Amino acid sequence: MESVTHVGGDPLVIENMGFAYSELTIFNDLQITVQPGEFLSIIGPSGCGKTTLLNLLSGFLEPDAGSVMLRGTKLKPEDPHFGYVFQQATLFPWLSTIENVEFGLKMAGVASKERRERATHYLEMVGLSGFENYLPLKLSGGMQQRVSLARTLVMEPRLLLMDEPFGALDAITRDDMNDELLTLWDKLGQTVVFITHDIDEAIYLSDRIIVLNRPPKGVYRDITSEIPRPRNSKETRTCDLFWDYKKELRADIESVAKSAVIA
Ligand SMILES: Nc1ncnc2c1ncn2[C@@H]1O[C@H](COP(=O)(O)OP(=O)(O)O)[C@@H](O)[C@H]1O
Ligand SMILES: [Mg+2]
Repeated sequence: MESVTHVGGDPLVIENMGFAYSELTIFNDLQITVQPGEFLSIIGPSGCGKTTLLNLLSGFLEPDAGSVMLRGTKLKPEDPHFGYVFQQATLFPWLSTIENVEFGLKMAGVASKERRERATHYLEMVGLSGFENYLPLKLSGGMQQRVSLARTLVMEPRLLLMDEPFGALDAITRDDMNDELLTLWDKLGQTVVFITHDIDEAIYLSDRIIVLNRPPKGVYRDITSEIPRPRNSKETRTCDLFWDYKKELRADIESVAKSAVIA
């Protein structure tokens, strides 16, 4: 099994970026730099442009001004260096778990033996050994989301873009998935841009948290977390710093929400 491509070199740089949906300006002169291997979470009220930002990062949308660059090159949707995980598991219902994980490799022309080996390895990493031949509908929501994660990770992306990936799961399953994601990220070392509504999840996972303001105001707050790693639910979620960040972020989000009512 070949080793995973670790992120090195240049950061992901959003520079002077502007974007509008016709009359509706979402970003104006946005600047964010994400360091290689950094775990960045983005939070903010609904409609503040989180999904739009991820689509700009992946190249699904083109900025009207400025640029998004990874390693000095513009990202494109067909670029194999990023992987996307959405809120709802996006699996083919007629394919088995392992066939779902293999699908991207098949499209990329990877030979069947290697495909099977890599898919098996990633299914094991997300704790789904033994479920290779199940159809998605036979799996719980949490398990389906793990398959989605395996399906994305098997492509070994340098940049992992996650749009509220655990938002549809119950609180306990979400906490478990947070732990699994951290374990995987420790092993793989990708750059992660993670969108969530959940303040606890953002603090638990991230090196850095950005609160987005109402469009087109951009970054409202940018916090670098001092919570040490490795983290574990029991200690991290009860430490003083965790509560400090939680108080601060909650106040920020309330303030952003309020500003919208006044404006
Ligand atoms: N394809 C689109 N065309 C026009 N407006 C859009 C489109 N997608 C999103 N919007 C608008 O852009 C704003 C930001 O949306 P979005 O990025 O989905 O926010 P979030 O993910 O933070 O909830 C919202 O006001 C939304 O209605
Ligand atoms: Mg969204």
